[in-house]
Parts: sequence; structure tokens; C-alpha cells
Amino acid sequence: MLGVPAIKVKNAIDYIEESCRIVVDTIELVGKNVKPGVTTYELDKLAEDFIVSRGAEPSFKGYQVKNLVYQYSLCISVNDEVVHGLPNKKRILQEGDIVSIDCGAYKNGYHGDSAFTFAVGLISEEKKKLLQVTHEALMLGVEQATGRNKVYSISGAIQRYVEKNGFSLVRELVGHGVGEHLHEDPSIPNFIPPLLHRDQYPNTRLQVGRALAIEPMVNAGKLKVVSDPDGWTIRTADGKPSAHFEHTVVVQEKDPPIILTLPN
Ligand code: MF3
Ligand code: CO
Repeated sequence: MLGVPAIKVKNAIDYIEESCRIVVDTIELVGKNVKPGVTTYELDKLAEDFIVSRGAEPSFKGYQVKNLVYQYSLCISVNDEVVHGLPNKKRILQEGDIVSIDCGAYKNGYHGDSAFTFAVGLISEEKKKLLQVTHEALMLGVEQATGRNKVYSISGAIQRYVEKNGFSLVRELVGHGVGEHLHEDPSIPNFIPPLLHRDQYPNTRLQVGRALAIEPMVNAGKLKVVSDPDGWTIRTADGKPSAHFEHTVVVQEKDPPIILTLPN
């Protein structure tokens, strides 16, 4: 109508998108500072200040699992650490390391969630292939996230590609819906659960308009992981490296999803 200013009512996805942009910008900033000599604690501080400067809160800080409260803004997992590595003043990055930066931001009542694994300087051929295969597996999983598919379409695409390349998928941690809560239904395993274990991760149809966090965690060696005494850090049992990439995406009916956490 003439003379009436156009107002746009924001919906949940607009807010998730805004939180995701903050996450992407944070990971980019942290990535520029991933180099030999820097501590993972310094990277966490950098991230926290940046997230707050954008009017958001770090999703992970204060996150509670049973009686443990997470105290940091990022999960920083180096080499054989799979996920949930704790930023640490004594952990100094070295040439040849691979470093997963996992970040969540919360603003206007909605979360965004993404992870990227960076190389510190020159890395081994095995680590290079691990990063490439894990990222490619993520993108193949993402491609399956349509309203015509179910959860296991994502799981199967990721699993097939990773195992074809001789790597293995962690069973203990999974992707998830994201929105008002960091972790929502559905759970998105990066593997198709064995026949008698499918109740834990039901193969539901993907809902158009919903945001999903898809996040393969890939081990160069065997799939077995162990937990550190700190109660958070998950690492490979065989000591081989592990990589982690994660995107938040919005499901569409037929086309591949909109990826809200693409790098700038
Ligand atoms: N980054 C994890 C995820 O992608 C969650 C972090 S758990 C926290 O789902 F406790 F560290 F916050
Ligand atoms: Co996540």
C-alpha cells in the first residue's frame, strides 16, 4: 500500500540465520589466529569477546551435562581429540596440528552451531586426507537434508563416503536439530544404527523449514573413543587424529538445504 512502510516480521529461521553469521565470523576470526605458539585458551577468549561484541552469548558457556557445567565459549579439539576439547592456557598449538573449532552463538532466543577443523602450518598427508574426507562427507550429508528424505539418508551418505575412504565414524556423538535449544530433535547419527538399535535415533522424515546441525566426527584410525578425566574431552582410543566439520542448514522440500554457516 502506498505510504505504508514495509515491515518484515522476522521468523525463527531469520534469527537462527543471524546467530549463524556470528558463528561463521567467530570461526573465521579464530581461524586467522590458529598458528604455532598460540594457546587454545587465547583463542577461546578471542571468540568470547567477539561473540559478546555482536550482542550474542556463547551457546556452550554454561551448558550443563549432568553435574558438569561447560566453562568456555568454544570447544577446541586438537589432533587425537575428537570433540569437546577444553581451551587451556598450557595447550600451545604447534606446526602439524589439526584443530577443530566448534562454536555456538545465541541471540534473540535462537542458536547457531558450526565447526571447522584447521591445519596449523604444514600437516601430514594422512591429516590432509582426513580433513578433506570429513568436509566432503559433511557436504554429502547436507545434500541429503531435504523434505523428501529421512534422517538416515543423511547418515548413510556420510557413512558410505567415510568408510569407502578407510576412515571411521564416531558412534557416541551425533548431529541434531537446532533452534530455541542448542540440541533439538531429531538426532542425526553419522552412521546407520544397527537394526536392533534404531529406537535411540529414529529415522524420522525431515521437516521443511527446520534447522539441522549436521556434524560428522571422523577418525583416521578406529572408531573407538575414550573420555578424559576432565569429563569433557573425547579422544580417539588409538591416538590417531580425528576431524570435525559442522553446518547448520535449513531443510527445503525438494532442493538441497540452505546452508546458514557457509564461510564468508
Ligand atoms: N558443539 C557441540 C555440538 O555441536 C556441543 C557442545 S557441548 C558443550 O553439538 F557442552 F560443549 F557446549
Ligand atoms: Co552441534
